[in-house]
Amino acid sequence: MLAPSLPTGAAVPSPDKRRYVRQIFTDIAPRYDLLNHLLSLSIDRSWRRRAIERLEWRRRPGGLYLDACAGTLDLAAELAGRRDFNGRVVAADFALAMLRRGTGKAPADRVRPAVADTLQLPVPDATFDGATVGFGVRNLAGLDAGLGELARVLKPGARLVVLDFTTPEAAPLRALYLFYFHRVLPMIGRLVSGHPTAYTYLPESVADFPPPDELEARMRNAGLRDCGHERLTAGIAALTWGVR
Ligand SMILES: C[S@@+](CC[C@H](N)C(=O)[O-])C[C@H]1O[C@@H](n2cnc3c(N)ncnc32)[C@H](O)[C@@H]1O
Repeated sequence: MLAPSLPTGAAVPSPDKRRYVRQIFTDIAPRYDLLNHLLSLSIDRSWRRRAIERLEWRRRPGGLYLDACAGTLDLAAELAGRRDFNGRVVAADFALAMLRRGTGKAPADRVRPAVADTLQLPVPDATFDGATVGFGVRNLAGLDAGLGELARVLKPGARLVVLDFTTPEAAPLRALYLFYFHRVLPMIGRLVSGHPTAYTYLPESVADFPPPDELEARMRNAGLRDCGHERLTAGIAALTWGVR
């Protein structure tokens, strides 16, 4: 089994990490939604709403969008459920078990699940009018390769919005957060999911993930412009975006 400290930010994709991550999400799929809302006290719902706002989909409400690392389809459903949205969302994930758990969250004529690896999306260049990734790029076995692939499939002018955890900067909250994330969360995660390591991997992968300003720079290197970020809930999570 992969050491949890494998470098998330490595430019070269690691097959070990890919296998490990896919297996984790296949294993925890039945409990993923419950744990997500329980461990974040459902704050993730407001983060997802904000991510969809940042996508600026109203510029092309009838467009074709990608939700990469779509998991159980929460972000895809958030976009598809917007009034005035009349486009389509391809919800791509390499763990079929996660996609299956999302069945019924969004109308089938709006959201199309697809088993696909974000590092090798099976679509031509410049396919999508926008893309989201919720809590996904941190899990990629090669962050720069993943950002490059996401940039490749965006049309010129289309936006990528990444939602992920960060570590708060302010001292008292930071200590509390680290205690919760490294002590409390793995314990609850293990008890509810029954998985021995998945919820130990989560805080370790967040600790290993670049902060938003660095992620922004990596997006620029991947060919995106007008990059920016917004910290959410005192810096527990952040949205980072860029335009193709
Ligand atoms: C933490 S979950 C996030 C799911 C969902 N986006 C959400 O907001 O709840 C991460 C997802 O990324 C998927 N994933 C990780 N690496 C991937 C890759 N290379 N290609 C496709 N999916 C990937 C996992 O299978 C998992 O479903």
